[in-house]
This record gives sequence, C-alpha cells and structure tokens, in this order.
Amino acid sequence: MVSVISETNRSTAGRTHRMTLDGEQVAFDPGETVYEVASRCGKSIPTLCYDPRLEPFGGCRLCLVRVEGARHPVASCTVKATPGMAVRTDTEELEDYRKILLEMVASENPDEAVDPLRGYASREFSDLADRYGVTKGRFRGRQSGRSRFEDDNPFILRDYDRCISCYRCVRVCAEQEGDHAINIAGRGFSTQIITEFAGNLKESACTFCGQCVQTCPTGALGDRKAMRAESLPGAIEKTRTICPYCGVGCSVDALTKGDRLVGVQPAMDGPANQGALCIKGQFAFDFVQHKERLSMPLVRRADGRLHETDWEEALDLAAGGFRRVVDRYGERAVYGIASGRTPSEADYLMQKFVRAGFGTNQIDNCSRA
Ligand code: SF4
Ligand code: SF4
Ligand code: FES
Repeated sequence: MVSVISETNRSTAGRTHRMTLDGEQVAFDPGETVYEVASRCGKSIPTLCYDPRLEPFGGCRLCLVRVEGARHPVASCTVKATPGMAVRTDTEELEDYRKILLEMVASENPDEAVDPLRGYASREFSDLADRYGVTKGRFRGRQSGRSRFEDDNPFILRDYDRCISCYRCVRVCAEQEGDHAINIAGRGFSTQIITEFAGNLKESACTFCGQCVQTCPTGALGDRKAMRAESLPGAIEKTRTICPYCGVGCSVDALTKGDRLVGVQPAMDGPANQGALCIKGQFAFDFVQHKERLSMPLVRRADGRLHETDWEEALDLAAGGFRRVVDRYGERAVYGIASGRTPSEADYLMQKFVRAGFGTNQIDNCSRA
C-alpha cells in the first residue's frame, strides 16, 4: 500500500518529482541522490564513506538500498533519485549486508574504544558497530594501513591501523581545502594514505587545517592537541561559538572538560565555514587559558620594568602618548587598525576615534591583512 506524505510535510514542500520510499510516496528535487531524499525523510541509512560536503564516492557500500527492477542492491549515496523509482531502505536482507560489511571492517581494526576527542566524526564507525552488534573475529585476514606514529607534527595523529580506506581525508583535502597534500598508495590490504614521497606532514603541502581529522570516521586521524585531555576526568561539553581570529567568523564548538578548554571542532552547519577551519582556528587555542596570558594592563615604570595597573591609568598613559606623537610629528604619524571580529558599532567608534580624535583618515581593518 502506497500512502502519500502530506503536502504540508517539510520534505514535499515545493517539490514536484515523486518516488516511493519504503511504501510511501515522497517528493524530491532533481539532482538529489536516493540517500539525500531518504535522510530528509527521516530514514537512518548507515554510511561510512559519505560526507555531505564531498562528491559521492560509493566506496563502503554500507548505504545499500533495494531499487525495484535492479538486480542487486545499489549504493544510495551515488544513485540519483528518478521519478517513479521505488526504493526500500530497511529490509532484513539489507541489514544483513550492512552487518557483514561492518564485520569485515571490524576484523582488521583495533578493539579499543575511540575517544571522541580524536575528531568530530571519529566515533562514526564504533557507533555503527554498536548499533549492529558487530564484534571482531568473524573474518580473519591481513591488516591494512600502517600507522605513522613517528610523524612528529604537533597536531595530527596518524593511526592508520584504524584506517578503513574510505578516503574521506584525501577527498576533503582535495575538494574542500584544495590542497591535495595526501593521497592513496597501494591497493587492497596494501592501501596506505601518504603524503608526496611518503614523508611526514610537516614536509608536505599540508596546511594543518585539520579537515581530514574531523571527517575521519574511525579516529585513524586524531587531533593530538585535544587528545592531551583524554585522561582528564569529566564529560566533554560542546559550546557553540565563533572563532576569535579573523573576520570570516567561522562557527566552532569549544570542547571543555570541567573548566578546561581542551579542543575545538568546526561546526559542520556553520554558515561561514561549513566544517572548514584554518590552522589557527583549529589548533591555536592554548592562549585562552595560558598562564602567561595578560589579564591586567601593564605599564613600564621608571625602573624599566612592566608593572600591573588599572585601566584608568593605562588609558590615560596611552592617550598622553598619542597626544605627544601627534603634537610632535603631526596627525599622519598615527594609524588605527580595527579588529576583524569587532561588531559594526565598535568599528564605527574606532573610525570616529581616529578621524575625529586624531584628525587623520589612516584607519584600516585587520581583515584586509
Ligand atoms: S585515515 Fe580516516 S578518513 Fe582517511 S581513509 Fe583512513 S579511515 Fe578514511
Ligand atoms: S590537515 Fe588539511 S591540508 Fe593537511 S592533510 Fe589534512 S586536510 Fe589536507
Ligand atoms: S556511504 Fe554510500 S557507499 Fe559509502
């Protein structure tokens, strides 16, 4: 029996094409894949090589569905929806296929649990293994992927014993970062993720943006800085915020344990970055709770040393300094640079301060730097 999903359903609004999904008629946009339609309609099809930001790949075959008229199950992440198509996503046969595929993957992966501090997607595989009740040992074979723990960069752990050759890291590096710093060498059990000349990341074209870490579904790539906090007690809490560095305004989740900031993960739904970050936003967060971080203004006194003071004295001294420079060298001797993170109101005050206060138009913004 085919039932029709209500036109008021969000999934059908404004869409003219129709297909049948698990016995219900659903609407879709031209160009959508079966997986995209099914996800939008609330189906929970498992995936491992899929990242919505990347071109469909079809490597893991976990997202198999039955399409009426097709001889074999097809990978829903690569097949486009077509009008009149009839698809089943949840048969016993498909669930068996998925479990066997997961058992094959599990057979060559280490048993230990993956800490979510490794990366945004690092528990995708282990969560699916739990969902399907998959354990090691059903299949015996060789181990693929050789870890590169000797890669001494401070940011990215290369624990390829956990690699499942989904190539999300390689694809995100090429398609999102445009960097092509890593690639695939060998085939079958000899498959290995490498840099050019199989060296360390520091000697490669890698910009340490961390995107490969955050998309890796097994923790084979790990965020070394966040992993420092694995042994800290307490649950990980995520707080949505904006990266403090430049004017792009990338959305990030600050990871905390207790009162410690232990890591940063990109927000996949961040309007400005959609999961991307640069090396600063991703890894340069130690300053926040650094013991040498300034918490009071400092002034240099007659002894030549810096001393803590209050804001009133500090601002008076700074204003006096500006005044002396302008009096001696003219207003073109001073220059203002606003922060890229300031709101428009603060930018307005800054230009007013420089233009009206100093009498110069020498004002700029660090976002142009
Ligand atoms: S390192 Fe991670 S993302 Fe890259 S191929 Fe292996 S499992 Fe996939
Ligand atoms: S950190 Fe960025 S540039 Fe380096 S390999 Fe990963 S995705 Fe590519
Ligand atoms: S998610 Fe579709 S083949 Fe991997």
